[in-house]
Amino acid sequence: MEHTVTALPTTRQPGCPFDPPKELIEAREQSPISRFPFPDGHQGWLVTGYDLVRSVLADPRFSSRKELMSHHPLVDLGDIEVPPAPPGEFLLMDDPQHSRYRKPLVGKFTVRRMRLLTERVEQVTAEHLDAMEKAGPSVDLVTAFAKPIPSVIICELLGVPYEDRGSFQENIDKFLGGEVSDEELIAAYTATQQYLAELVAAKRANPTDDVLSDLLDSDLTDEELQGMALILLSAGFDTTANMLALGTFALLQNPEQLAALRAEPELTDGAVEELLRYLSVAKTFMRTALEDVELGGQTIKAGTAVILSYNTANRDPERFTDPHVLNLRRQEGGHLAFSHGIHQCLGQQLARVELRVALPALLNRFPTLRLAVPAEEVGLRPETADIYGVKSLPVTWDV
Ligand code: HEM
Repeated sequence: MEHTVTALPTTRQPGCPFDPPKELIEAREQSPISRFPFPDGHQGWLVTGYDLVRSVLADPRFSSRKELMSHHPLVDLGDIEVPPAPPGEFLLMDDPQHSRYRKPLVGKFTVRRMRLLTERVEQVTAEHLDAMEKAGPSVDLVTAFAKPIPSVIICELLGVPYEDRGSFQENIDKFLGGEVSDEELIAAYTATQQYLAELVAAKRANPTDDVLSDLLDSDLTDEELQGMALILLSAGFDTTANMLALGTFALLQNPEQLAALRAEPELTDGAVEELLRYLSVAKTFMRTALEDVELGGQTIKAGTAVILSYNTANRDPERFTDPHVLNLRRQEGGHLAFSHGIHQCLGQQLARVELRVALPALLNRFPTLRLAVPAEEVGLRPETADIYGVKSLPVTWDV
């Protein structure tokens, strides 16, 4: 029996800011794979079960190529032709093109390399906590803490002058925040492209000690480097920023878990993995079938679009015990918050270092940290945003 979901939900349940929309949870309860008629009439699929999402991600018969993604899950774009991803923007490419760009970067984001960064992350975190203390006892945690820390670090890694962060941070917010018109979105993208073209030219003229300059010695063209830098910058701070802010919000709403994390620093690594699973801020991605594929008892025809709900999969009770409970002591690994397969997050070790350092440092510096507004008044990103999170998080503490 086929199950159908007629539209993707655009809101979450009031009072449940951390849970996937109930329509998606209910869809998974009915079937791990549902029919999904796209607004333009295309008959696609929505996959919500953990095992099936993971198996699509591991299967080269499902493509990430941008030019195949002409069906939008929320709006009817009509009969448009989507161009291929620009050179270097490897998130939306398949192998072998994808690995041309990913391969030279892998060695720069290893566990070892990222652990070496720990001290710098600690320093940057301490500076921001000092500034918060001075500005307090009330701040918006998003602007004072969650955004600037990953932003400083990715800028330093890539060799983007930190003074330039303001403009690209704002532009990247526009790409991923889901709240601007198409015109503004295109303007933000074009401005970032322009900025990165100038940055690559500046590195060529005067290489410095950073990931982007290291890549100048390869056969990659400036246009390709620009595309790679765009992917790294846009993937590299908004995601972690939203995990820091939403993660703090989730801990404040779960005081027993918060107290355990404060009391037992050895819980930190597991706590970060559990927050990644529970919140899954990078919540939905798409793939296109390149040939007919049997999946969960259905035939996915070649050319069909498949929506993968990572956050619903990460709440699958067949994979995780009491999946809707935030349990920092959970032993079950293997969440899909960083995806799986060839596109699995390149920056996951960096994100882990940032979260493992910054979250406990915040909690230890402010033992009485709490929301400064009722939880219902916290401004959430809309469900249509590519990356979920909070727009602002007013917090306060005793002095
Ligand atoms: C908690 C923070 C983060 C989350 C939740 C996250 C999540 C993800 C996810 C789900 C994907 C795969 C998308 C797909 O399946 O198509 C991805 C890809 C990627 N991420 Fe992250 N990410 C985070 C932080 C970072 C950071 C700090 C960087 C910095 C370099 C980064 C760089 C990338 C890149 C370059 C890709 C593309 C990989 C490829 O296509 O081969 N991410 N990320």
